[in-house]
Amino acid sequence: MTKYADIHRASLENPDRFWGEAAEGIDWATPWHKVLDNPAADTYRWFAGGRLNTCYNALDRHVERGRGDQTAIIYDSAVTDTQRKISYTELLADVSRFAGALAANGVNTGDRVIIYMPMIPEAIIAVLACARLGAVHSVVFGGFAAAELATRIDDAKPQLIVSASCGIEPTRLIEYKPLLDEAIDIAKHKPARCILFQRPQTTATLIPGRDVDWVEAMQSAADHDCVIVGANDPLYLLYTSGTTGQPKGIVRDNGGHAVALHWSMKNIYGVDPGEVYWAASDIGWVVGHSYIIYGPLLHGNTTVLFEGKPVGTPDAGAFWRVAAEHKVAAMFTAPTAFRAIKQQDPEGALISDYDLSSLRTLFLAGERCDPDTLHWAEDKLGIPVIDHWWQTETGWSIAANCMGIEHLPVKAGSVGPAAPGWDVHALDSEGNDVAAGDVGAIACKLPLPPGTLTGLWQAEERFRSSYLKTFPGYYETGDAGFVDADGYIHVMSRTDDVINVAGHRLSTGAIEEVLAGHPDVAECAVIGAADDLKGQLPLGFLVLKAGVDRPHATIVAETVAMVREQVGPVAVFKKAVVVTRLPKTRSGKVLRGTMRNIADSQEYKVPATIEDPVVLDEIETALQKIGYSD
Ligand code: COA
Ligand code: AMP
Repeated sequence: MTKYADIHRASLENPDRFWGEAAEGIDWATPWHKVLDNPAADTYRWFAGGRLNTCYNALDRHVERGRGDQTAIIYDSAVTDTQRKISYTELLADVSRFAGALAANGVNTGDRVIIYMPMIPEAIIAVLACARLGAVHSVVFGGFAAAELATRIDDAKPQLIVSASCGIEPTRLIEYKPLLDEAIDIAKHKPARCILFQRPQTTATLIPGRDVDWVEAMQSAADHDCVIVGANDPLYLLYTSGTTGQPKGIVRDNGGHAVALHWSMKNIYGVDPGEVYWAASDIGWVVGHSYIIYGPLLHGNTTVLFEGKPVGTPDAGAFWRVAAEHKVAAMFTAPTAFRAIKQQDPEGALISDYDLSSLRTLFLAGERCDPDTLHWAEDKLGIPVIDHWWQTETGWSIAANCMGIEHLPVKAGSVGPAAPGWDVHALDSEGNDVAAGDVGAIACKLPLPPGTLTGLWQAEERFRSSYLKTFPGYYETGDAGFVDADGYIHVMSRTDDVINVAGHRLSTGAIEEVLAGHPDVAECAVIGAADDLKGQLPLGFLVLKAGVDRPHATIVAETVAMVREQVGPVAVFKKAVVVTRLPKTRSGKVLRGTMRNIADSQEYKVPATIEDPVVLDEIETALQKIGYSD
């Protein structure tokens, strides 16, 4: 029995003992009554009765125990060519003061605060200040359009929004304030206050009475101490794409989250306190929450906040520069970033310009990692490259080769075995385990380990129907794949209409809702077609209303602009075709899977239930005209 297998088994046989021990890594104001409360029900809770403050665990305790002078954040901005190092002492001072500013502007424990910010240290300060107050933050990714922000404002009903004057993309400046103002205009709920951080690149106009300047808010505020909250009180909401246009508000608690993330730093990522850890993601995504902010800081690491891209800021050596310059020990990014680097520097020539001797491991997640990319990274870097699998819902890995426990052999195409705490199964439609190696719906036996979602924000019924209903006693991941004879998990595709574009999770339903709003469109469908760089790209099919005779190219261009305007540039919706009909089953279900097979030039069987197979020929011809389906 390997060390990993021993630990994994122990975690499932005696979760109380396993997570009770892990919880000793966290400072509690009041210890929990029970490690796992109500284990037989799907309303189980971790560390019930325990009380703590997550910000205290991420900052104060490190300063109290002598880590104050250590760098907490290395801010490396390739797009502004600036760097800043912030020590734990400095970060604590800023966070305490900003918590005071939030409180002075009416934010109380339990209130929601939306954070719509670029990759700057103030975004982390805002997040931790909310945690300090026991206010519930909800970070919204900067690449979403105003309408998406408005949806989140209406769902979370924030007391206050924290934003900045602009984000900086390699080729353009994104003024956040007009987007924020438009979102508040669209939303029914109006936040009482907005706090704006003015970046030197552009100054936003403030609305008197509602908007407050960050610097002024800090100057007039008093430091605020940590508010102790219950282990099961919410720490944050993070909206993620479901199958409809209405995003799901994933709720994360304080206690289980702190325990799991702290535990994961050593056991999964193999880093010790004091070492530099870098997740090259965005704070708007779950990876950013867990591994730019909370995980490294809870564990006393130095975290890198990189504002830039793997390519173009200024070149495909950006990641190597950052890793070398800051002596990064473990790095985490999405495979798409490596595909982008590989495309521009196929030989990895730029790697030799840098001293990467500190870098021990590269972790990849966010989308399926193709074996080519994995092997390229292994070959060029000469270190273990670990693909691991998780979701916004889970907050940390469901499956991983846990480097701090045991470096198991890597299998390209697999995300590794189930992480401790996870009981992962591939099920058939009846809920029975399929044979090893056979594809099924991947589901995890309840109770899930600490740190995963405790529900959907004010949507209990949706939570149950989305995750718990199909396979009673299990959490349905929405991913399909198989578990091989060695217990390694292979995640192949989604079972729903969620797609993954450059490691960003998007709902085809949300894009379809926008397309359906075009006045000439009678019916539409969106699929995720394979893309060499971004993994998938959305592709639209438009059926026009009878009598519409405007040029198809014009209509397509209008829909492209609408999606950019209403969902955001991050959707990368650039291509659509006009067809006379959509392929459907006799009961009217659109055959998106078949359309995807055609677009990706894959073999497919004509479904027996299809209403009219001839329509597939038209789809194929239309796709060939725009470069798909060879
Ligand atoms: N604010 C505003 N706009 C943003 C944005 C942000 N925070 N992030 C991305 N965008 C815009 C981009 O500028 C681009 O706009 P364009 O259509 O005008 O070019 C569009 O959204 C699409 O962005 P993206 O898909 O990221 O493409 P890209 O060409 O800018 O970069 C990669 C491609 C592969 C380099 C990039 O996607 C990447 O690094 N991905 C890693 C993903 C990741 O970290 N995922 C998190 C899970 S680990
Ligand atoms: P998100 O919630 O944005 O993190 O997206 C989660 C989804 O991304 C998962 O349900 C998977 O479909 C996909 N995903 C994440 N990591 C991996 C991985 N390592 N391999 C395959 N798919 C992944």
